[in-house]
Amino acid sequence: MAVALVYQRAEMANTVGVGTESPKARLALLHRDRLSPKRLECFARDGFVVLPDRFTPDEVADINATLATLISEDRPENIREKSSGVVRTAMALHVRHERFARLVEDPRFLVPAHQILGDTDVYAQQVKVNVKAAFTGEQWQWHYDFATHHHEDGVPEPLALNMHIFLDDVTEFNGPLVFIPGSHLDGPAPTALDTATTSCPLWTVGPDVVGTLAERGGLACPRSPAGTALIFGDALVHGSPPNMSPWQRRVFSLIVNPVGNRQRNDRRPDHFHHRDTTPLHSPAQVAYHSKGSL
Ligand code: SIN
Ligand code: MN
Repeated sequence: MAVALVYQRAEMANTVGVGTESPKARLALLHRDRLSPKRLECFARDGFVVLPDRFTPDEVADINATLATLISEDRPENIREKSSGVVRTAMALHVRHERFARLVEDPRFLVPAHQILGDTDVYAQQVKVNVKAAFTGEQWQWHYDFATHHHEDGVPEPLALNMHIFLDDVTEFNGPLVFIPGSHLDGPAPTALDTATTSCPLWTVGPDVVGTLAERGGLACPRSPAGTALIFGDALVHGSPPNMSPWQRRVFSLIVNPVGNRQRNDRRPDHFHHRDTTPLHSPAQVAYHSKGSL
């Protein structure tokens, strides 16, 4: 699969048409995707940043149409809810369909990732959609992603970024993500493994710790239309309630991690943490760096 993916990436870089624009247009493309100083400050302070209107309604419709086919498959990468059996999370999407292979190299992810992490190569650690089905979508307990990345995969530092696209309007009703702003600031919080209460074992953060962190930082729940992007850091405490509304809440999630911070063990199946650490480069970035000068 890894070989096929490398092949796909090379093919796409040649066919998407980037590289034909003027150097000025290429530079404008890269600047379009950069986070403003205010947004970078917000990410550093709160641990997350919300970016409305980053993806168009047509792009979201196209992604959702592709997703519908992938979700209907019966395979281990489609993880199901404990009670209803409906798909909770569809994983490894970039090795299952070209549309998602293209998405993980989108400059709207990679330009901000490189701004935040510095000039370092990143790989696609995990690529999924969390579905949160209408009526039956279950909760995600309080946790932060680094707890799992560290304890399960041996990732050394909390550097990974979780980058989302809202594929439905996210409201207070359909199981939105809830963050504790600033909960990353003192370093990763105490955590413990919960294998009992959800469909996926998860390293969770207990009520006392959540209470203390929320006393200081409060809670934040980004509600925003489909097409919104969201970036949050690996040590930020978050969770989401069940979806009792009649509206599903699909969210695309790409976790990128610096290659130098890669996993130290391969205990989990590949779709939880991809072993292919080939650096991601957007076709626009490649074109700019190989051909561009003003
Ligand atoms: C959610 O989709 O509501 C939770 C996702 C996550 O914890 O990364
Ligand atoms: Mn998480």
